[in-house]
Amino acid sequence: MQRPNTKSYYLKTFGCQMNVYDSERMTEALARDGYVATDDISSADLVILNTCHIREKAAEKVYSDLGRIRDMKDARKRDGKETVIAVAGCVAQAEGREITTRQPAVDLVIGPQSYHRLPELIERTSNTREHIVETEFPGDEKFEQMKAPRRVSSPSAFLTVQEGCDKFCTFCVVPYTRGAEFSRSLATLETEARELIAAGAKELVLLGQNVNAYHGEGPGGRSIGLAELIRRLADIEGIERIRYTTSHPRDMDADLIAAHADVPQLMPFLHLPVQSGSDRMLAAMNRKHRTEEYLDLIGRLRSARPDLALSSDFIVGFPGETDQDAEDTLSLIRAVGFAQAFSFKYSSRPGTPASTHEDQIPEEIKSERLQRLQALLDDQQAEFNAQAFGTTVPVLFERRGRQPGEFVGRTPYLQLVHVAAEGDLVGRIADVAVTDARRVSLSGVIAAA
Ligand code: 5AD
Ligand code: SF4
Repeated sequence: MQRPNTKSYYLKTFGCQMNVYDSERMTEALARDGYVATDDISSADLVILNTCHIREKAAEKVYSDLGRIRDMKDARKRDGKETVIAVAGCVAQAEGREITTRQPAVDLVIGPQSYHRLPELIERTSNTREHIVETEFPGDEKFEQMKAPRRVSSPSAFLTVQEGCDKFCTFCVVPYTRGAEFSRSLATLETEARELIAAGAKELVLLGQNVNAYHGEGPGGRSIGLAELIRRLADIEGIERIRYTTSHPRDMDADLIAAHADVPQLMPFLHLPVQSGSDRMLAAMNRKHRTEEYLDLIGRLRSARPDLALSSDFIVGFPGETDQDAEDTLSLIRAVGFAQAFSFKYSSRPGTPASTHEDQIPEEIKSERLQRLQALLDDQQAEFNAQAFGTTVPVLFERRGRQPGEFVGRTPYLQLVHVAAEGDLVGRIADVAVTDARRVSLSGVIAAA
């Protein structure tokens, strides 16, 4: 009889929600194989870094982390213990074999398409002591082979509906690291959604690198878009809230806009990256939309759902960006009014078209532009939150807070809310009277029924 596996693993997740979702799937695969999680990296038999490649010097940071983990592996070896080191995620996908060449202590390099094979690959490295690099795109088998999770870590659960991107924005590595667009079928998504709800989820966040390009197999084998997927999922008993992220303006079709008007579970919040408010920059970024088209789209969305809260991503200091271009982005922000947003200094990603551009912008200028842009976005966020003061909003409570008796949840507009209450609110939706509004969060009290 085989002895049950009682090895421990330490998993660190960097970057976006897609990685958080993938880490949950890896956790599931490992749990099925008898692995137990540990927070103490120095006692782990298996260390996995689920990496992100979007940020500046992402790969360099991974290599410096790996240097420290190698020292730990050496120390454990002196005590007679083995450690398997695995690198997953987008740095793994982008760097491939380069990782084991630069850091031979790494045993396994695994791309997002191969996570369902994680336990098997770990076993192979342990048996053969070989470096294994699995970063091919074998197609669509990954999702179907990974079982849905039996438990959810939060009442707000991620459901990956689409992966990859065919848009090829000139700054972005995603089309290279995550490959071509692939959408999961309605049938598999309905099954996984039901399992998530049965496990306690109240909200589903539909994930995809370019989620509104979703075109999965629907009833009778015909292809359905994101709007129809949302409508079908909304019919499942127990789904209280639905969100989706991240969208591309070009894929925001009339049906999806209409869904914002007529699907009550679809929350009035939309993350719709625009990146820049200058048509010259948008063209250089290969965004396939102009400022005016974005503003027009926002107008149509707000007609469908007047209280829609908007979020976006911005890049400052893209190669060739002038003061006027930067100013145009500020104008767009003023014209829209965002509830929240993410903003980044352009950082060159090897292999992307923009990285070879000659007009790279000096760091100080990027910093100045980012500061101005963030000051404006911060003001807008503070103003948006201030409007909640004195109102009563339904809050889905996701977890306990740091203080005893404190709970943390979100409004339909994705604002964080802190509430002190008796009993256990986690997983419940309750009306909260907002008594304090700060820039990044609200607090309040449970409103009397
Ligand atoms: N430099 C700066 N920001 C980037 N992003 C993607 N690639 C880069 C890059 N090379 C930002 C974009 C995208 C978000 C996820 O990360 O704004 O929407
Ligand atoms: Fe990257 Fe998003 Fe552009 Fe796709 S649409 S290339 S994921 S920035």
